[in-house]
Amino acid sequence: MPRPTAPLRISASTSTRAIHPALTAGQPLRPRVTTSNVPGPRSQSILQDLNRSGDFRTSLVAVDYAKSKGNYLTDADGNQHLDCFGQIASISVGYRNEQLEALAGSERFRIAAMNRPAIGVFPPHDWREILEAGLMKDSVRPRGLTQIFTANCGSTAIESAYKAAFMAYQHKQRGHSDFTAAENDSSLFNSSPGSPSLSILSFKTGFHGRLFGSLSTTRSKALHKVDIPAFDWPAVDWPQLRYPLEENEADNRKEEERCIALVEETIERWQAKSPVAAVVVEPIQSEGGDNHASPFFFQRLREVTRQRGVYLIVDEVQTGVAATGTFWAHEKWNLPHPPDAVTFSKKMQAAGYYHTEELRPSAGYRNFNTWMGDPARAMQASEIVKIIEENGLVEHTAQVGAQLYEALRGLSARHPGLIQNLRGKGQGTFLAFDCETPAQRDELVGRMRNKGVLVGGSGARAVRLRPLLIFSEKELEVFVETLQAVATEIVA
Ligand SMILES: Cc1ncc(COP(=O)(O)O)c(C=O)c1O
Repeated sequence: MPRPTAPLRISASTSTRAIHPALTAGQPLRPRVTTSNVPGPRSQSILQDLNRSGDFRTSLVAVDYAKSKGNYLTDADGNQHLDCFGQIASISVGYRNEQLEALAGSERFRIAAMNRPAIGVFPPHDWREILEAGLMKDSVRPRGLTQIFTANCGSTAIESAYKAAFMAYQHKQRGHSDFTAAENDSSLFNSSPGSPSLSILSFKTGFHGRLFGSLSTTRSKALHKVDIPAFDWPAVDWPQLRYPLEENEADNRKEEERCIALVEETIERWQAKSPVAAVVVEPIQSEGGDNHASPFFFQRLREVTRQRGVYLIVDEVQTGVAATGTFWAHEKWNLPHPPDAVTFSKKMQAAGYYHTEELRPSAGYRNFNTWMGDPARAMQASEIVKIIEENGLVEHTAQVGAQLYEALRGLSARHPGLIQNLRGKGQGTFLAFDCETPAQRDELVGRMRNKGVLVGGSGARAVRLRPLLIFSEKELEVFVETLQAVATEIVA
């Protein structure tokens, strides 16, 4: 049967409140690709050049950031792309945002940026005010977490949170007394009791970064891990849920219960070998393919970790900062007790983790490094928070995400083979779907790119959308139109 190709209507009944025009002023109205392929010749030549002295085989295009604006990224060939991937989910309020650039022109910012301090030893006199204006603002700081550790990127935030969990766990074990001489001496030889056998439990297909500890809990792609020595730490199944979640609640509940039982059993079994000090979990497994779980799963996870004296670290590096229609994705779980730590980076443009008092190390310098973040980036984070709050971008993302989900549902009905397992209902614009095969997914992502719309791949065959928080109805129309054209080409 021939497939209908009439344009998909976006229902006016779900239309969203317009965001302030200044947020998208000066951006192109539509994508424009003038080269026969992306990357075009100039990008290709720049990337080849770069690749001579470094590994740039991962690069898609060379970017002209001066000419990028709002939701649109301009490449070195002058192609203008609607960016629905946001530099791997890390752009929040758009390219060349005027408010951020005004901050960059201020004396305060200039001083901060050009006099980068070792924050732990020489914090700026106004460090507390900088934090209180953004990262530690009541409306931003996750409920129940009173402390913050600032770091340099997602992986270092995760690594530092793991260290804090190990230190707090041992502190409890030794009954809050000082280290013994044997602990001090043996730690310098990486042996017990100073370097104890402890573990972090993670989930299969999860991603938590690429340094040694974080990579040991990353389980999404062998390419990231092969040849690297890893801690022998446990991993348990992530619930394999059926989508849409609301139509498969009973089966999904059983699957989630199965995985929670595995968590409990694993914590128990590893007690003799390498006790689990913390469980780390993403609210939506992102690099692993946008794999969801329900609030029930996370509530149970909090319950079993608390019962067993195991810390719970929620990794919001990718889900955090409004992308899922709430400031933090874990807010939707209604946990009776907060997580012990919540990591952030990406859209915040500053990294670190929030934590409870219990996760404060027993002495200074135990969790530390030279920079421990960057005041200029923390000021940028404050300004981003201000822009988000002044413009209602959390609510906006929830609304436009609902509209985008419905549009994708329509496209999925038209192309059920190509757009399968649509997921992310009620999760803002944090949406994804599967193609039939990995090759088909790559073809879809490549064809979208050649038409000037950037989306990401993840997991085996998922397409993930990570639009900016200023993604609105106009961009939604362009996105849907382009996906529809690509889908028609692929299934033709
Ligand atoms: C959930 C999650 N945790 C940690 C990281 C690591 O962050 P970074 O790449 O900044 O080290 C990422 C990066 O994609 C991530 O998605």
